[in-house]
Amino acid sequence: MPGSGYYDLHLHVLPGLDDGARTVEASLEMLEGLAAVGYRHFVATPHCDDHRFTYGWDKVDAAYATLRDAVERRGLDVDLRRGAEYTYGPRFHAHVTERRAVTLADSRYVLLELPEAFMPATMPTALFDVGAHGYYPVLAHPERCKPFHDDVPRLAELANGRALVQVSFRSLAGTFGRTIKRTAWRLVTDEVADLVATDCHSPRELKKVVQPVIKALAKRLDPDHFDRLMRRFPARMLAASAG
Ligand SMILES: [Fe+2]
Repeated sequence: MPGSGYYDLHLHVLPGLDDGARTVEASLEMLEGLAAVGYRHFVATPHCDDHRFTYGWDKVDAAYATLRDAVERRGLDVDLRRGAEYTYGPRFHAHVTERRAVTLADSRYVLLELPEAFMPATMPTALFDVGAHGYYPVLAHPERCKPFHDDVPRLAELANGRALVQVSFRSLAGTFGRTIKRTAWRLVTDEVADLVATDCHSPRELKKVVQPVIKALAKRLDPDHFDRLMRRFPARMLAASAG
């Protein structure tokens, strides 16, 4: 049976913006489906990169306002806030150094996707530098990065004191193949992952990804570990920054 009050700090639920929800109806379906398995707190994280998702924040704000209105009209009891998923690159660097990065629900945490094919030797310094500007990086699905496949200690060493590790439901479900699935589960069971997030892009993923992964997590983890990943840790992240 599902628990309640879970946090999802990474999902593409804003309508008509990136490769996530296409319509407001799809956004509502995603939120309703996630609420049905126990989620209550959401931080919408549209992509923000240098090539494909380069829309301005006025567009993001408009999509966010549209969805908040729709949620209210539908009477959904969810807490929806805003963030972004940055791709490591010049735009991210500019936002950080100019101290105008879009953080997760106005916390100090920035969601950051690292390059998947290789890890630049300068990455530890780069992450440290993000911290020096007052932000703290949350690594989005690092299990998808080739250098960390079957090398959990390498990721643990990079993240140590510099970043949090967020594993994606899509990886845990096997969407990206067996190696990434195995690495994702290792990160969770070895307690290298600080949190998990659905990274949900469409209502189709509710049945294919979200429901089976919640079930598998509840089965494989002890209740305290499960509750920490799904609720306590993300709650503390947002609360620490609110005050
Ligand atoms: Fe994402």
